Amino acid sequence: MRPLNRVASAAGGSFATRFFSLGGFRGEEKELRDMSFCRKLRYNKLYKGGITLDKKTDAKRIEELRDLIDEHNYYYHVLDSPRISDREFDRLMRELLELEEMHPDLVVPHSPSRRVGGKPVSEFEEARHAVPMLSLDNVFSETELEEFCRRAGRNLGRDHFSLVGEPKIDGLAVSLYYEGGVFHRGATRGDGYTGEDITHNLVTIGSLPLRLKEEVTIEARGEVFISRENFLKLNRAREKESLPLFANPRNAAAGSLRQLDPAVAAKRPLDMFVFSLLDLEGELGLQSQWQALQRLQGLGFKVNPHVSLLQGISEALEYCRGLEERRRELSYEIDGAVLKVNEFELQRSLGFTSRAPRWAVAYKFSSEEQLTRIEDIQVSVGRTGVITPVALLEPVFLSGSLVKRASLHNLQLMEEKDVKIGDRVVLHKAGDVIPEVVEVLHKERDGNEKHFQMPPHCPSCCSELKNLPGEVAIRCINPACPAQVVERIIHFASRSAMDIAGLGEALAAQLYETGLVRDVGDLYSLRKSDLVNLERMGEKSAENLLAALEKSKENPLHRLLFGLSIRFVGERVARIIAAHFNHLQAVAAASCEELLLLEEIGPKIAASVTEFFKQPETGAVLRKLEEAGVNFFEHRPEVAGEEGESLRDRVFVLTGTLQNFTRAEIKEIIEAKGGRVAGSVSRNTDYLLSGDNPGSKLQKAEEWGVKVITESEFQKMADLEP
Ligand code: IVH
Repeated sequence: MRPLNRVASAAGGSFATRFFSLGGFRGEEKELRDMSFCRKLRYNKLYKGGITLDKKTDAKRIEELRDLIDEHNYYYHVLDSPRISDREFDRLMRELLELEEMHPDLVVPHSPSRRVGGKPVSEFEEARHAVPMLSLDNVFSETELEEFCRRAGRNLGRDHFSLVGEPKIDGLAVSLYYEGGVFHRGATRGDGYTGEDITHNLVTIGSLPLRLKEEVTIEARGEVFISRENFLKLNRAREKESLPLFANPRNAAAGSLRQLDPAVAAKRPLDMFVFSLLDLEGELGLQSQWQALQRLQGLGFKVNPHVSLLQGISEALEYCRGLEERRRELSYEIDGAVLKVNEFELQRSLGFTSRAPRWAVAYKFSSEEQLTRIEDIQVSVGRTGVITPVALLEPVFLSGSLVKRASLHNLQLMEEKDVKIGDRVVLHKAGDVIPEVVEVLHKERDGNEKHFQMPPHCPSCCSELKNLPGEVAIRCINPACPAQVVERIIHFASRSAMDIAGLGEALAAQLYETGLVRDVGDLYSLRKSDLVNLERMGEKSAENLLAALEKSKENPLHRLLFGLSIRFVGERVARIIAAHFNHLQAVAAASCEELLLLEEIGPKIAASVTEFFKQPETGAVLRKLEEAGVNFFEHRPEVAGEEGESLRDRVFVLTGTLQNFTRAEIKEIIEAKGGRVAGSVSRNTDYLLSGDNPGSKLQKAEEWGVKVITESEFQKMADLEP
């Protein structure tokens, strides 16, 4: 691989030094020798003869150079088969950089000169995804995979359908937006709805095309990764410079993409595979994932060579087995295979669950396992009071980290597995992250093992533990329990909730212990003078924390709702409730019946929400938050007020090509006016907005009796100038 970076060159020695010495080339003898005859002539004219340059000729040459560089970049990074030497390539790039330096007005965003790393950004901008970036459901065995295929077959009402098998790349998901064939914006997945704009870093990746081979408006999604070999080289180089090492290639890729300065990313050997194609303008006429992969490749993207079109379950199983066997031969990490129903029409009819498509699944390869011993079992108290038994283990290395503890989940599961203190156990990492006891080696018992007894009282507040009817979990029901309060503070501040940077476990515990914070409402009355007296808290960190708290006041309601640690209210449910009620007081006043009317809200959630808001403690917290000026709206009235909300709660589905808007624009308009865009027609759809050449959605809308509107009808409805 020929990277665009210095670290890799320094690390490996075998890398070419593209862009290595860009700094001081002007006027150097060697550079002059390397220049083409024409360039030399121009150089001499400019620097020695003082004659003005012919801008038109330069503009032409710049275009030529960009085409040449793009072409050779593609041969090198995407096809892995260079046609010119590194030296020749460097020369082209230098010539371009030099010309662009002379004519800054001729610089364009898609110029390959951007790849060397442009200006640093001061912070990451938020990037909303036009279509949510969902994750995949996992299966862990062949039986589960067969079950997935059968279920899909049943739902489709057919025995046979084709699938696409792809390696599941262990990297970082990114979305890449191209307008008219030019790369405009790239973002991380974030929470699936909003990610971070990392365009400045993505342009440095050699295998990412800045211009496509057709002028299409699309979003491509894929995975950025670092190969195993490059990861080792990178770490070796860091070791030499006494820099902290990356734990694994995935972390190294993630760390590189989260840099403010693109020059740093440009030095990292980042690579990518692309596997999803969103046809934003409905112009590509794609009918299947297999076609999408081919089209992506044709547009100039790097598509994984181990993808395969499969007919039925047995071929799918065969594919997974084969890939798992060859896993180690690949130069990059994969953690499974992804199986996708091939035809888009079938994908549409299978639809989505709240977090993942029903037409795709990740077949996870078995992860590494280790033997160890349970030295003790203790209990931990969660933010909603659930008591979890935790095994304290003889420390052991597993998939790249030292593991000392593993959750045993609950008493019922412990009994099923028959776990005792002193047992030898097999440990693995669930989803390659969370350590889990998979098996107890009962035969290795010597009689000294001890039975674990659940304590009758909470280890934190000593109140009596309860096993509430209908629940497996044992709980501490004292809402003022210190352990629960600390866990709630940690959760409130976490990234998916209020995202208060700098407020982690240790600080949350300190804030509670010092009496500064007794509930999450108190966080907003913290002063700098309170904070600077805390351990490990300097003036700068105190200021940063206060700034993060201030910023968090602007979060939309769903983050706040999720952050309040209401039982059974996860991120998804918080979004549904917030979208419907729009204001926290309306949620607090909602009855069980009202909540039950919402899609996906069942009796358990409805009861938990109403119970939560009945508590006097909740009232006290809400008052503090309100006084501090924390936003209680999902959409603020000034953005989406009475008037602006002309599409409130209306669900739209789009089909065909629109004349005046891109899909992303339409979506933005609908959402700004309180409506929602869904991917497929269902009984919940209010309108199908149909453009030219509508797809099968039109027929479906007619079947369901969904109102079909034209673009100009939509414009009137949305109060837009026709
Ligand atoms: S498809 C809606 N295909 O795995 C389905 N994902 O667990 C979108 N991933 O966030 C994902 N290789 O970043 C798909 N060949 C592949 C993949 C892949 C890696 C990642 C992806 C996603 C995660 C889902």
